Amino acid sequence: MTVSDTEAQAAVLGGYDDASRLRQVHDRDWVLDRVTGDPEVLLDLGSGIGQLLGAALDRHPSLRLAVGLERSEHRLAEAAGRLAPYGARVALHRADLTGPPPLPHRADVVTMTSVLHWLYPVEHRVLGWVRDHLAPGGSFLLTTYHPARDGHGFGGEDDIVRDALADLGTAPESVPGLFDDHGVLPIATRTRPADELAELLGQFFTVEEQWEREAVVTVRDAAQYEHFHAATFGDYYATVLEPAHRAAFFRAVGRAGWERQRRRGRVSAMPVRLWKLTARSGGTA
Ligand SMILES: C[S@@+](CC[C@H](N)C(=O)[O-])C[C@H]1O[C@@H](n2cnc3c(N)ncnc32)[C@H](O)[C@@H]1O
Repeated sequence: MTVSDTEAQAAVLGGYDDASRLRQVHDRDWVLDRVTGDPEVLLDLGSGIGQLLGAALDRHPSLRLAVGLERSEHRLAEAAGRLAPYGARVALHRADLTGPPPLPHRADVVTMTSVLHWLYPVEHRVLGWVRDHLAPGGSFLLTTYHPARDGHGFGGEDDIVRDALADLGTAPESVPGLFDDHGVLPIATRTRPADELAELLGQFFTVEEQWEREAVVTVRDAAQYEHFHAATFGDYYATVLEPAHRAAFFRAVGRAGWERQRRRGRVSAMPVRLWKLTARSGGTA
């Protein structure tokens, strides 16, 4: 069986440099604008292709070490290429943040943008790890996405995927069961509501400040949304289908996104929160 370009892209979460311009990259400067003083060590968790690390190193000559932890081998390789000019100021580690390994660093700043939902329901593990790796007075800058959710825990990208599956002949009401059968948790379930998250964060950190913005995704055509979906979600959702149907699925997701763009003037919009956190002494976990 031949694999389509989008399937090959999704398998390695490729094309993120382009795709992230539609949504995720806006977190980078939003977060880095909140870094104060002259940090020496920064840790970025789920560091992707190294965009935040590179920008932090440019902004802060004081940084002697910028460390990225990331699970995807392909993303780490892309980050290593991008960050090679910074030499020994960069360290990249392959790590699974659902059980992060101890590191010999204490960071002035820890960042994590657009990642926490992938760690559901064991986010407490990374939160405890961050608390233990912050230098005294250090801060944790975290962004979290909060799509509205329905009674099935669907929202955001889940709704677009449900439209795409309906386009391919699946009854919309059977989509939650299909997800369940394949162990796919809706993203809107993974992204905890802000009040629930505040309670979880409060076990480890003091919330010093928080800000909110709306992340609006717009596209010029269906192909651009197909590309964005494959770069961002990989084959997370596509696994609910047999391999022979996945190329058609990615095309249908592109069409579903484009249909929203045509009808509403945007594919999606959802609140994003930026939390500035400091370690709580005597935390519970
Ligand atoms: C939406 S991207 C965000 C990347 C980057 N932080 C940004 O804001 O552009 C989510 C990243 O988290 C990584 N990721 C997801 N689950 C992970 C895990 N369990 N451990 C480590 N990294 C993970 C993915 O590989 C991906 O690079």
